[in-house]
Amino acid sequence: MMKTDQKVAVCHSINEVREKIREIKTAGNTIGFVPTMGALHEGHISLFSHAAKSSDVLVASIFVNPEQFGPNEDFDRYPRQLEEDLKVCANENISVVFAPSKDEMYDEKKYLQIKIEQLNKHLCGASRPGFFEGILLIVNKLFNIIEPDVAVFGQKDYQQFQIIKQMVREFNHAVDLEMAPIIRANDGLALSSRNTYLSDEQRLIAPSLYRTLSFISDQIKSGVHKPALLISHQKDELEAKGLEVDYLNVYTSDTLQPVTELTKGEKYLIAGAVYAGETRLIDNILTVV
Ligand code: PAF
Repeated sequence: MMKTDQKVAVCHSINEVREKIREIKTAGNTIGFVPTMGALHEGHISLFSHAAKSSDVLVASIFVNPEQFGPNEDFDRYPRQLEEDLKVCANENISVVFAPSKDEMYDEKKYLQIKIEQLNKHLCGASRPGFFEGILLIVNKLFNIIEPDVAVFGQKDYQQFQIIKQMVREFNHAVDLEMAPIIRANDGLALSSRNTYLSDEQRLIAPSLYRTLSFISDQIKSGVHKPALLISHQKDELEAKGLEVDYLNVYTSDTLQPVTELTKGEKYLIAGAVYAGETRLIDNILTVV
C-alpha cells in the first residue's frame, strides 16, 4: 500500500478523475476501487481495508445512483453527507474520491440499457424491478471511468456481487472482484446506511433477521435438508415480532435460485429481506451443508 500524506483528491468530473487515475497508473501503482453511495460507516471502512490489502492506491466513488431506486423508494431521503464522508476517506488513506453529480453521470435521454437474465429473478430482484439494471449501469460506467485493478463489494449485497461478477465476465472488464465479509453491530445487525432510518423500537427488533438466518443455518447444518417448513415457521416468528417479511429462503449460491432440497457438500445462500416500518433490511449467510 502506497502511504500518502497528501489530502484526498476530490473529483467531481469524469475528466478530472481520469486525469488523476492516469497519474496514479503512470507512477506504476495498481488501483483498488470501492464504489459507494456515501453515508460511510464501519462496513465501508472494512471494504477500504480489504481493497488496501490488494492494491497500491485506493479510489472510492460517492454517488447516490438514481437509476437503482424505484419511484416509491427512498432516493430523496437517502443520507447525503459528503463533508463527513471525505473525513472518513482521509482517515482511511483514500487517495481519490470521485463524487459526480447526476448530470455528470447521465445524459437526459438514454438509448441503451443492460438486461439481466435469471440472476435477478429472486431475492431483491423480485421485489425491486429495475434495481440491478440500475446498479449494473452505474458500476459498468464507473469501471470504464476508473479502470480499477481490484474492486471490492460487501457480502451483505450478495446478489449484487454475483450479478456484477457476471457482468465483469460477460463484458470483459479487466478488474478482479473481491467480496468482503458483512460487518455487524454487537447484536448482529448488519451495518447499513439505511439503519439510520430505524426508530429506537425498530432498532431493537432489527437484529431478529440475523438471528433467524443463523438459526436456519444451524438447522440445515445439523441435518434439515428440506427447509420449507422451517422457513415458514421462521417467517411467522419474524412477522410476530413486527417485521414484514419480503423474502426468506435458501438459494443456490451461484445461480441464486430457491432450493427445496439441499445436497450434502454444496454451498447455499440463506437470505432474507424484511421491512421494519418503511425501512428495508437485508442480510444473508453462506453455508456449506
Ligand atoms: O452497494 C452500493 O452501495 C451500490 O449499489 C453501488 C455498488 C455503489 C452502486 O451504486
